[in-house]
Amino acid sequence: MIKKAIFLTVAVLVGLTAEARDRQLFDKDWRFVLADSAQMAQAAYDDSWWRTLDVPHDWAREGDFFVGHPSGAGGGALPGGIGWYRKTLTLTDYDSAKERYFLEFDGVYMNSTVYVNGEKVGHRPYGYSTFEYDITPYLREGRNVIAVRVDNSDQPNSRWYSGCGIYRHVWLTRTAPVHVRHWGVFADARVVKGKGKVDISVELEGEGTVENELIAPDGKVVGRSKGLKSAITLGRPLLWSCETPNVYKVRTSVKVGGRVVDTYETPTGFRSFRFDPQTGFWLNGRNMKINGVCEHHDFGCLGAALNEDALHRKLTKLKAMGVNSIRSSHNPPAPELLAMCDTMGLIVMDESFDMWRRRKTQNDYARFFDEWHERDLGDLVRRDRNHPSILMWSIGNEVLEQWSSAEADTLTLEQANLILNAGHDASTLAKEGELSVQSLLTQHLAEIVKRYDTSRPILAGCNEPSPGNHLFKSGALDIIGFNYHHQWVKDVPQNFPGKPFIFSESVSALQTRGYYMMPSDSIYVAPKAWWLPYTDPTYMCSAYDNMHASWSSTHEETWDVVKHTPYVGGQYIWTGFDYLGEPTPYGFPARSSYFGIIDLAGFPKDAYYMYQSEWTTKPVLHLFPHWNWLPGQEIDLWCYYNQADEVELFVNGKSLGVRKKMRNEKLEMRNDDYLKQTEYHVCWRVEFEPGEIRAVSRKDGKTVCEQTIRTAGAPDHIRLSIDYKGKTTTFITAEVVDKDGNLCPWAEDQISFFGEGDGCILGSDNGCQTSMERFTSPSRKAFFGKCMVVVKGTGRIQAKSPMLKPAEIKF
Ligand code: GAL
Repeated sequence: MIKKAIFLTVAVLVGLTAEARDRQLFDKDWRFVLADSAQMAQAAYDDSWWRTLDVPHDWAREGDFFVGHPSGAGGGALPGGIGWYRKTLTLTDYDSAKERYFLEFDGVYMNSTVYVNGEKVGHRPYGYSTFEYDITPYLREGRNVIAVRVDNSDQPNSRWYSGCGIYRHVWLTRTAPVHVRHWGVFADARVVKGKGKVDISVELEGEGTVENELIAPDGKVVGRSKGLKSAITLGRPLLWSCETPNVYKVRTSVKVGGRVVDTYETPTGFRSFRFDPQTGFWLNGRNMKINGVCEHHDFGCLGAALNEDALHRKLTKLKAMGVNSIRSSHNPPAPELLAMCDTMGLIVMDESFDMWRRRKTQNDYARFFDEWHERDLGDLVRRDRNHPSILMWSIGNEVLEQWSSAEADTLTLEQANLILNAGHDASTLAKEGELSVQSLLTQHLAEIVKRYDTSRPILAGCNEPSPGNHLFKSGALDIIGFNYHHQWVKDVPQNFPGKPFIFSESVSALQTRGYYMMPSDSIYVAPKAWWLPYTDPTYMCSAYDNMHASWSSTHEETWDVVKHTPYVGGQYIWTGFDYLGEPTPYGFPARSSYFGIIDLAGFPKDAYYMYQSEWTTKPVLHLFPHWNWLPGQEIDLWCYYNQADEVELFVNGKSLGVRKKMRNEKLEMRNDDYLKQTEYHVCWRVEFEPGEIRAVSRKDGKTVCEQTIRTAGAPDHIRLSIDYKGKTTTFITAEVVDKDGNLCPWAEDQISFFGEGDGCILGSDNGCQTSMERFTSPSRKAFFGKCMVVVKGTGRIQAKSPMLKPAEIKF
């Protein structure tokens, strides 16, 4: 019988019988305070004056943007500090000889210390690791108090926004004394000559017998095995791929005296893959490119607090763009990201660290590395190794150990973000025949991964592309992955003979949605060099694909190299979504990034459609920018398209001619042709006259797609639409439009949202990198005509603005 723990949460039961494990979310009704006192650990402490909330929770996103916050603009200009969470667990008939209780935290940023009834249970510095404590010895009959101290006061400790608090789920698990250990099942599924084989190893606490069932995606049991080490073979398994993400399950049952005492489920999947030095990446015998993006973990106005709907929305938008892979840069992701990638068909590069022993910021993980790396890296692999979506482990990103010496200990946060991609002197590279301490450390980290999983290749995101890089020199990396340096790709075969290659990170183009710097065939490099400041009073970057940082490239440039170089397995573009922090090329008041293909609010920038036209079979025709300019102004009209031979542009009914995309091998040259077309877009330079522009794409003379943009008149009303509806969270777009419904592209009206019903407003956003409005605010300025409000539950939203007619929508 399930008994004892009185859970205030909605039960999520994994256990199948009354005697099996009981695993439930432990998220609801925590008490929280942003203050610190040793007394707060004590069971008797009076926390009745604290706020009640549910986790996942991120206190930083609730604050004001302020230049003086120690995280700096690089960390999102939001507060840090020390906070406490407390929650009660009431037990009846508690018997520690017959049951075990475990508390699992998917992620607490950072430096968490957990107490039960005033006694310290454990401490975990790394804010991205998942950890579990056996709290059985600390519990007692009746009321128990769990207290968690979270210390994110030593700043800066991250090159991007980290968030603060218990920002992922918490789980409470009850088991019998004999049970499967934490992450104690490894279902190592492989495909050999079309046949599937899963090697299953089970780690057991106590003595019992073990049985496994292999369950197919349709729920049928298709194989069985017994024992701590066993295997199940399958004649023709359904393969996991990006198009058919078939996920199997291993159900492990533990018996004592013939009675089931534990049941444990593990995802698994069959796929064959390889990275080939000549031909790139192969999945299930098919040669394909990894079209990946790097993602940080925040959700714009929702901060770092995990929200499954926001996560699913992110992945859905990326998948629709043609993305087939995610790099969890530069840290262990939420477990839910991996589960979604499994079922949505997104390949994952699972990454551990942004630094090793040499720090990038004053107080970062480097100070814990020596003591904790083995535990953190090992735990990452043990937690994640059953996910079929993961095809690579990354043991680090741009760690300073790539070089013999680096100014590791003297960097400011801003310098750290910029210096990483500065060229390094040859004297800092490994000497011939040398196996340096840095190379040995690389080998050591690779060994930790291999201890728990030998089925996936290991790489590191390196921004030193030379073979003298101490990490490459170690010989421990299975794939050569470097960041940026697309000009070096041609040298890969001779620099790294016999080694496969991918761009572990690429592009870093800079864009503000809705803002266009002309002429569009000029390339704006910002900053020109990492040590030079870049200023522009607009604090904006250009949404034509014509602006990037000194170490990086336009979107077209890197994609051109990937597309036309067979041995490049793919790329991970920096980044899919804009994220909080790292507002390169600006400083405060900029406080979020410009790198995203999609802005912080979730509105695609124009480059989204370039990738969609190249990476998907969906017919694409995307003409931009808008058509509200000054009479006589010269405007470059770009168009991304696919599945057609040509595009014709009409301005107020008059044809401006037909253009065709054409290979332009020297994209960097910006030659005359570049103004008209590349392999990826066509362009017309047009004198503005108000009215209407229309693009028509044709194949064999037949129209494929048409798009019309009209000059908008005066702002008239607000238009609301549902951008994404999740299970509990809904994203609603508000647009300022003229009386005919044309988007007013320059509108900056302040829109206030009023909710009715059971729902509530979680936050609002507009994608503007310099907005100082609080994320929790129910009011938001339109940015280039648009903003977003995020709501929870069900109800109605009214949107009002002084100069506009209001609007209302149900959610
Ligand atoms: C890379 C780094 C990323 C981000 C990016 C910006 O060097 O890996 O974390 O800083 O540069 O271009």
